[in-house]
Amino acid sequence: MASLISSFLFILYSATIIVASSESRCRRYESIISFGDSIADLGNYLRLSDVNHLPQIAFYPYGETFFHTPSGRASDGRLIIDFIAEFLGLPFIPPYFGSQNLSFDQGINFAVYGTTALDHAFLVGKGIESDFTNVSLSVQLNTFKQILPNLCTSSSRDCRDMLGDSLILMGEIGGNDYNYPFFEGKSIDEIKELVPLIIKANSSAIVVANLFISLP
Ligand SMILES: *[C@@H]1O[C@H](CO)[C@@H](O)[C@H](O)[C@H]1NC(C)=O
Ligand SMILES: *[C@@H]1O[C@H](CO)[C@@H](O)[C@H](O)[C@H]1NC(C)=O
Ligand SMILES: *[C@@H]1O[C@H](CO)[C@@H](O)[C@H](O)[C@H]1NC(C)=O
Repeated sequence: MASLISSFLFILYSATIIVASSESRCRRYESIISFGDSIADLGNYLRLSDVNHLPQIAFYPYGETFFHTPSGRASDGRLIIDFIAEFLGLPFIPPYFGSQNLSFDQGINFAVYGTTALDHAFLVGKGIESDFTNVSLSVQLNTFKQILPNLCTSSSRDCRDMLGDSLILMGEIGGNDYNYPFFEGKSIDEIKELVPLIIKANSSAIVVANLFISLP
């Protein structure tokens, strides 16, 4: 299965990894599965928010130029991931959280505004204030892993084929791991200690590879 992830593009600040099978470069992608933070959040954070304490993105001018309503994106219009979907001729990807009956056909978006590559508890343990979402990259990946058997059984197509036909977007993720300690005035030395952890954090392709290897 390792060949499934034989090519990926790694862009720093922070990692955006596009995982694609080598044969699929010339092949049509049928759906997009994505993980990350606000740069790719298509509505998850808003749907996870307490209705009595809605975040800024629930209000104008968010959403005003394209969707004409706050869409849960941290933008007045579309995000890069929306343009990727449009370019590939795919529908806008539904957010996972708060959606029902998702299938590979629609694609799935797990990205959450404000989230981190390192786990919430780990960062809090490093003395960073806890006031940010705990849907870290590993939580997003584990959620996908958990629902994968359902996605597979509820589909008429072979699960491996469906995964193989999906463009997997990993990121942007990791920027907030630096933002929070910077905002809190942590020293450069303290923040530098996080760098190798963030790079290695669960954004490593190994975690993604595990998803493929552990396919039901
Ligand atoms: C989800 O699927 C179940 C079972 O097939 C169905 O009863 C339900 O109406 C569906 N919900 C939506 C929102 O499509
Ligand atoms: C990485 O992911 C594993 C498995 O989900 C988790 O147990 C671990 O705490 C994560 N590590 C960090 C540093 O976020
Ligand atoms: C994240 O926080 C919510 C609300 O506090 C809690 O219900 C949930 O169990 C937490 N999830 C994880 C993975 O820590």
